[in-house]
Amino acid sequence: MAVDLEKILRPVDNPMPPFPAKHMKVASGEEMVIRQVTRDEIPSILQHVAPLVWVERDFYDVVAARVYAELLAYYAHRMQDEYVLVAQIDGELCAVVNGRMVNEDVGMSLHTLAMRRGLRIGAHAFAAKMEYHMDILGQKEVLIVAESPIGFRRWMIEYNLEKRFDVAHELGGVPSWALTRELFEKARDTLVVGRRPVPDELLAKAHEAILPPSDPPRPPEDLLAATRAKYDPTGTALVLQRWKQEGKV
Ligand SMILES: CC(C)(COP(=O)(O)OP(=O)(O)OC[C@H]1O[C@@H](n2cnc3c(N)ncnc32)[C@H](O)[C@@H]1OP(=O)(O)O)[C@@H](O)C(=O)NCCC(=O)NCCS
Repeated sequence: MAVDLEKILRPVDNPMPPFPAKHMKVASGEEMVIRQVTRDEIPSILQHVAPLVWVERDFYDVVAARVYAELLAYYAHRMQDEYVLVAQIDGELCAVVNGRMVNEDVGMSLHTLAMRRGLRIGAHAFAAKMEYHMDILGQKEVLIVAESPIGFRRWMIEYNLEKRFDVAHELGGVPSWALTRELFEKARDTLVVGRRPVPDELLAKAHEAILPPSDPPRPPEDLLAATRAKYDPTGTALVLQRWKQEGKV
């Protein structure tokens, strides 16, 4: 008997209402749109996530590698009940956030990746993700972890998240933190910003194309320049990497 293996491998997504796009003015005075993307748009995001895998600073490497895998899995129907939101300024990709619906009460926050720094773009994109879980999916809580100290400051401290250390998060099995409905309501007036509906012209520009980030985080020209190891005789591994970079070995 012939078996359609794809039917077994491909998870069946549960119905999830769409995230209604919103817009806000960021600190630079530019207007930013946060919207949900479809599967078809994933390849045009992946090409801008890939180079961040080589940026060690602020844990961009770990987060970018994971985001790449999660977005690819979403594209290829290998992840269940996932959604992806993007933040765009004038079409330019500024942040990517994603998550998953675990069940009707619990959401799993996956990642936040800011591609333009210093404007709290990542913080706004994360807030939109929380809004999606709480206001649109109507969930009771969202499980969250941080890979980086900046992430910890932005999520655990700013939202005053509760510990759920008995629950292993899907990201590496590390202890979870939780945003409850009560914490979300406390944060709503300060951390969750944006207006709806998005003016037609602004939304059309965002949908037209996902343009490359204009000033994404980049790896240092010289691997040693970014570390104290330049002056540290024990930094042998980095010295070797530099020799490789310079083609000496
Ligand atoms: C965590 C993250 C999403 C936060 O994004 P954000 O809210 O837009 O904030 P930024 O990263 O731009 O800025 C963080 C801090 O660095 C400072 N900063 C500003 N410009 C910066 C720059 N060019 N480079 C480094 N840091 C900068 C900011 O002033 C800010 O300080 P503050 O917390 O006192 O406001 C983003 O740092 C990121 O994508 N990091 C890598 C992946 C990651 O860790 N994701 C979260 C997983 S838990």
